[in-house]
Amino acid sequence: MIYVTGDTHGSIDIRKLLENEVTNKITEQDYLIICGDFGLVWNYKKEDRKERKWLKWLNDRPWTTLFADGNHECFPRLNAYPVREWNGGKVHVIRPKILHLMRGEVFNIENKSIFVMGGASSHDRGPAKGNTEQVIGKGWWPEEIPNEEEKQNGLNNLAAHGNKVDYIITHCLPTTCQDIVKRGTFAADSITDYLEDVQKAVSYKRWYSGHYHCNIDVTNDVTVVFSRIIRLGETIADSETIIGVPKYRKQDAVLISYEGENLLGTIKDVHPWGPMFHHDEPYYDIVLFDTERKKPVVRVKETQVIEKSLIQD
Ligand SMILES: [Fe+2]
Repeated sequence: MIYVTGDTHGSIDIRKLLENEVTNKITEQDYLIICGDFGLVWNYKKEDRKERKWLKWLNDRPWTTLFADGNHECFPRLNAYPVREWNGGKVHVIRPKILHLMRGEVFNIENKSIFVMGGASSHDRGPAKGNTEQVIGKGWWPEEIPNEEEKQNGLNNLAAHGNKVDYIITHCLPTTCQDIVKRGTFAADSITDYLEDVQKAVSYKRWYSGHYHCNIDVTNDVTVVFSRIIRLGETIADSETIIGVPKYRKQDAVLISYEGENLLGTIKDVHPWGPMFHHDEPYYDIVLFDTERKKPVVRVKETQVIEKSLIQD
C-alpha cells in the first residue's frame, strides 16, 4: 500500500506520523510519500543532532519513506547525498529507508507509475519577503525552483511514458489550481506554469501536492494534503475519519448533510475529539449560508460533511 501526506517541516509537523490510527496500520511492505517540505535535511552546515535523531526515528518506522522536495530543504546538502536508480527513477539515499524522489523522475511502485516534480517558491523568506541577502544559503536557496534541466528531464521522462502516468506528486500546484486554493494571493511562477503545461499534456488519475498547508480536493483529480495521511488514489473527502485529526478547518466552506437536506455553510468551530473531548469523531459547528433558517448554526459530525466546497458565502 502507498500512503500520501503533506509537509513535515523537519520535527515541526512530523507529529502526524507519531502514533495514530493510520500510521499504526502502515507495514514494512508499505510506502509513505511526503509531498515536499520534508525539512529533515535543513541545517545549512551539516546533519545536526536533531536531524540525526529524527532521521533515525523515521528510518526505524516499519514503512519506507519517500519524499519530493519542497522549498524548505537545504538543497546543496540534499543534492550531495548518493544518487541511486530505484524503481525506474533516480533517488537520493538519505537513509536506507528514506529516499528523496528526484525532480522529473517517473517511478514504478506497486505497479503504479508516479511522476514526481518537487520545488516551489517560498512565501515566508527570500525574494517574497525582501530578505534574500540575509537568508540565502542559510534558510533559503534559489534551487527551490527547478532549473531548465530538471524541467526538461521531467518532460523527457513523461514523453517516454507516452505522457500517461497513474499519479503525479508535486510540492506546488499548476497555476490554475493554485489560484483556486490561494484565490490569487500566491503569484504564478516558472514551476506553477510548467506544471500547468504538464497538466494539460499528461493524462493521470490523481495529482497530489503539499505546500498550501491544507487538506482539500481542489478539482475532481487534484488533491492538496497536509495533516492527513491518505491512500494513494484516495481523496480527502473519501479518506477515513480519524479521532483528533479533522479533515477540515475553521473558515472552510463545506457541504453537509443535515436532517435529510444538503446544506452549505462555513465552519465556525472545530472539535477534533468530539464535543467536550468525548473521544468521538471530529465535530464541526457550521454557520449556514441560508440565514433564513430557524437554526443558523448547526453542529455536525465529520461523517455528515460531504465535501469541502470552493463556494464562499
Ligand atoms: Fe510547507
